[in-house]
Amino acid sequence: MPSAKEKEFQDLIEAAENVLKKNWTGSFTKPTNSLYPHQWSWDSCFISIGYCHYNQERAEKELERLFDAQWDNGMIPHIVFDKNELNGLYFPGPDFWQVDCSPDSPAGLESSGICQPPVHATAVRLMMDHSKDTKRALDYAEKIYDQLVKWHNYLYDERDPEDENLVYIRHPWESGQDNSPVWDPVLKEINPPPGEIPPYERKDLSHVDAAERPTDEEYDRYVYLVELFRRQKYDEKSIRTSDCPFLVQDVLFNTILCQATLDLAEIAKRLGKDPRPWKDQSQKTAEALDQKLWDEENGFYVDFDMVSNSQIHERVLAGFLPLFAGIPDPSRAERLFNYLNTHCFCRLDDTCFAAPTFDRSSPEYSSSKYWRGPIWINLNWMLCIGLSKYGYDLYADRIMESIIQLPAQNGFYEYFDPDTGKGYGSTDFSWTAALLIDVLYQRKLNG
Ligand code: GLC
Repeated sequence: MPSAKEKEFQDLIEAAENVLKKNWTGSFTKPTNSLYPHQWSWDSCFISIGYCHYNQERAEKELERLFDAQWDNGMIPHIVFDKNELNGLYFPGPDFWQVDCSPDSPAGLESSGICQPPVHATAVRLMMDHSKDTKRALDYAEKIYDQLVKWHNYLYDERDPEDENLVYIRHPWESGQDNSPVWDPVLKEINPPPGEIPPYERKDLSHVDAAERPTDEEYDRYVYLVELFRRQKYDEKSIRTSDCPFLVQDVLFNTILCQATLDLAEIAKRLGKDPRPWKDQSQKTAEALDQKLWDEENGFYVDFDMVSNSQIHERVLAGFLPLFAGIPDPSRAERLFNYLNTHCFCRLDDTCFAAPTFDRSSPEYSSSKYWRGPIWINLNWMLCIGLSKYGYDLYADRIMESIIQLPAQNGFYEYFDPDTGKGYGSTDFSWTAALLIDVLYQRKLNG
């Protein structure tokens, strides 16, 4: 007889699997039905991490469809559009991106012209670790390996012009944290000349309350940046040398790249290939991040704005994430932990859910506004792994508990209020379900 706890977990796993089932299109999984009806890059990675525990074929297909849209220069686009959903209900669609003007854009599938954090090699490595059929997982890794290499080469060749071992992002959406307060000072300096913002109509506000979404001023700048990329025909060198007003070395993006490059080395090793170049590259990125993106005064990791040539001192959860890639030494890790474990985020002896995306003591903090305070399951999932690496097990358990309890009590929402647990944004959100599945399977394994 399963215990009451086991039964509760089993029911939750089933509910989570049903969310993914609902969002499965036959070739990929939508992040959610209404607000995001296409395929998103890092969403698909988290989704595969969930699938691999119980449906290996789906996990493979998910990434396969994404990599089918890989650009000739190696970029994995942040959105691959579903032609059945091109009904004008999502903006910006392919007719706005117009990526056909680039010789690198893929034939056959329509995509956006920017990328998202490179979780892909990490997803493939976890698929190898957790899938039931290990031989099949190895064959799959062999099949996708060259595409992963091409993707990492693109990032290091095209996004790191000064060989700093840190890559830049050129649009807030590339960070995955669309309206993070980190972008505020950068966007404030972008003043599109009159008439230069192409006409457009937002569609997100017909699905979600405007109070929980980015502002119109932010949207104008998002759209203006795309206009600049289009003018340069998405040629990377032309973009960065034509006064691109948004070039940021982002902590989260580079942390994920550092971990994924290490995972690529592990995949190479298991495939009998030479892992050393990737191991060395990952180490170099770790050192560069630890040096350039560390704010000694505040004991925290911050982004670097390449346009103003200065660090951006906003206190967001992403600043703790270098723990995920094992980057800080133990004394830096301790400074990070001591800050995380305060009322600014969530103290272990408080009743809050762990952990909000933004320092609560900031005047800009909001418990309901997208990336400016609410809890997101994917960042928490990475932070939980990072804290475990450094032995902060109590806090890691607290986060794991939030990953389980938030959807269990409130539903599979996109983001959650750190105090009440209320869900915001879209319902039936795929990565909330997929990462819950991952956490529950790991619990099952570890008893
Ligand atoms: C939003 C999120 C982004 C995510 C996308 C699809 O744009 O900010 O991280 O990939 O939705 O879920």
